[in-house]
Amino acid sequence: MKASNLELYNFRNYEYENISFSDGVNIIHGENGMGKTNILEAVYYFSYGRSFRSGGKEVIKDGEKEARISLSFENSQRKLESDIKFLSGKRKEIYINEIELKKTSQLLGNFICVLFTPDEMGIIKGMPEVRRKFCDSSIMPLRPNYIKELIKYRNILAQKTALLKSRQYETLDIWNEKLAETGSRIMTLRESYIERINQKAREIQNEISGGKEELNLIYNPSVKLKENYLEKLTEYKEKEKENLFCMVGVHRDDIDIFINGKPAKNYASQGQIRTAVLSLKLAETEIIKEETGEYPVMLLDDILSELDKSRREFLISKIKGKQIIITCTDIENYFNDNVNIIEIKDGKNVSSYR
Ligand SMILES: Nc1ncnc2c1ncn2[C@@H]1O[C@H](COP(=O)(O)OP(=O)(O)OP(=O)(O)O)[C@@H](O)[C@H]1O
Ligand SMILES: [Mg+2]
Repeated sequence: MKASNLELYNFRNYEYENISFSDGVNIIHGENGMGKTNILEAVYYFSYGRSFRSGGKEVIKDGEKEARISLSFENSQRKLESDIKFLSGKRKEIYINEIELKKTSQLLGNFICVLFTPDEMGIIKGMPEVRRKFCDSSIMPLRPNYIKELIKYRNILAQKTALLKSRQYETLDIWNEKLAETGSRIMTLRESYIERINQKAREIQNEISGGKEELNLIYNPSVKLKENYLEKLTEYKEKEKENLFCMVGVHRDDIDIFINGKPAKNYASQGQIRTAVLSLKLAETEIIKEETGEYPVMLLDDILSELDKSRREFLISKIKGKQIIITCTDIENYFNDNVNIIEIKDGKNVSSYR
């Protein structure tokens, strides 16, 4: 996977910019608030059709009516050009080779990137929602139908919640059947993905920590794997009528993460958490390589300065042969190879003035 050229038009603090990426390491350098993360955000849009930050119409430059971003990229099969237009009122149009996509899901799998930011420590420390999101976003580019299941589930859940709140119970069983059907499919995919990423991430964590840290991810679904999904929903029917919300189902799943047998959330040190997230992200890239035959583009936001020397060296050794786009505020070159330095100042690519 390779991103070659990015164009930004009224996107965040960019008026118009054109940025070329090289095959290997690309360093986006600049002071705080200059627009480095905005570039990663734009690139990320072409993988997921959404932002990893707030997104929405906030991406349109203040005072402007619309924004556009374009990416030329290459996957193992072909060279493509994709455009995303952001229009006022949350509307967005996505094009591949100038043909408008009917659904965002059609974008998935064309351009695959993996994002690594300090915020991702939330995968270990945060609420279950963060872990579900991590798992779901990792599955999405590999199984484009998965997002359809998630959307379907969310809609059914919203309908059922509305019925509970308005105390209309006649059709509850029908909604439960629909939830069980979609929910079971989501569970199956989550279960196999978590098992797979666990194996890979364990190996990596073991390697980084010199055999001292054993990482373990265990899927902790709301409906247990041996239980019957519909029966479980039926069992909770009366309780749900009292509480007016949907109490069981994949919207309440979690992933339990352990380091050396203890819940990482409560016991792990900052460094161990960073290592675990690093292991998960690298594991994610390995799975993408197995599935698609090529590595994703790695987007690293301010991550090198957060890691200590040995972990930094480990990460650098692991990103050999991949395209990476990395932001930093200090220009210290941790890489021995040739790097493409993109200098950003106040929403402008000033590389040519270096
Ligand atoms: N819609 C918008 N219109 C204009 N400017 C915006 C918009 N959204 C964000 N910005 C500006 O973009 C800048 C932030 O960009 P970004 O987050 O990319 O900075 P950064 O270089 O990554 O900084 P840091 O090193 O602190 O992470 C801020 O100055 C912010 O005000
Ligand atoms: Mg930033």
